[in-house]
Amino acid sequence: MDMDRKVLSEVLECLPTGVMLADESGAVTYANRAAHEYMGVDGGGLGGVNIRDIVLHGSGRKDLMIRTKGDERLTVRLTRIPLSGGCAAVVLTDISEIHRLQQELLKMDRLASVGELTSGIAHEIRNPLAGIKTTAQALKAEIPENDHRTAYVDRIVMEIDRLNKLLMSFFDFARPRELSLRSCDLKKVIEDTVFTVQDLARKNRVQIMEFYPPRGLTVKADPGLVQQVLMNVFINALQAMPSGGRMEVHLLENGPLANVEVRDTGRGIPEDLRGRIFDPFFTTKPKGVGLGLSISYRLIKMHSGTISFVSGPSGTVFTISLPKGAGK
Ligand SMILES: Nc1ncnc2c1ncn2[C@@H]1O[C@H](COP(=O)(O)OP(=O)(O)OP(=O)(O)O)[C@@H](O)[C@H]1O
Ligand SMILES: [Mg+2]
Repeated sequence: MDMDRKVLSEVLECLPTGVMLADESGAVTYANRAAHEYMGVDGGGLGGVNIRDIVLHGSGRKDLMIRTKGDERLTVRLTRIPLSGGCAAVVLTDISEIHRLQQELLKMDRLASVGELTSGIAHEIRNPLAGIKTTAQALKAEIPENDHRTAYVDRIVMEIDRLNKLLMSFFDFARPRELSLRSCDLKKVIEDTVFTVQDLARKNRVQIMEFYPPRGLTVKADPGLVQQVLMNVFINALQAMPSGGRMEVHLLENGPLANVEVRDTGRGIPEDLRGRIFDPFFTTKPKGVGLGLSISYRLIKMHSGTISFVSGPSGTVFTISLPKGAGK
């Protein structure tokens, strides 16, 4: 019997699943190693805990977001199992991966429905808009050249062009793109994109620094689309530094991946907004549309890559990862 207990306790200690036992008052009487790890406390630290405090009234299940000692964020599912005599066992399972995939699916779903809606609306607006523009131009042709009213018509045409640009970005968002994949030199794509944002950088007094590995890095990708993603990320970085700063672009090889890191010294993304920045139409900018990152997210997914970020009060780092691919 003693032998059985010993083996049982050894098994419990090395299980990847957390197990806590509580007496009839709810006080934890035993917790294995995994339970301590999931609850983010050192061995023995669960002694004074009452399972009723972790919201487990009656028999039930609860998912908790937990930050463990290593500052890793885990989603842990707690399941309470009633035992005889009013005691209870609580089983803790790490469901972080499932949670992450669920969030990802939700995001893709939301993106797809917004895409359909916007392309529908954009399409309906485009034609009348073209009509208005032609009419305005015809009107302009009838006004004598040095009449001050030409300025009004110019203004109308300018605003129509601005709307047209907006519509184009909706189309970009909605269109199920055909990828035209080819081997491309990421260094060249980055350099071309940096070139196109230099004006904005100068205006914001931002210094751009580029870092490349000694060997080139080739990915199988659609260079135009990768450039579009980089442009969105660069512009966001520059806009985050309206009174100057530094933007660093690092191209790095990371095993089978090619990573582009974009570091800015801007104001960072407040913690409560971090979960929303990839949502379509989420923007904190007075003139923003909020599509830059959601489009980028989609485009990078289409390349089987990832886009992620880390942000703090002294800046943000966006990482775009693409599978390296000279082959295939
Ligand atoms: N580098 C960054 N630093 C700080 N905040 C950022 C950064 N990148 C993105 N954000 C935040 O994420 C939000 C969404 O970005 P996104 O590019 O999708 O839209 P936007 O820049 O607001 O508008 P647009 O459609 O013109 O790109 C921004 O409004 C901003 O709050
Ligand atoms: Mg943007």
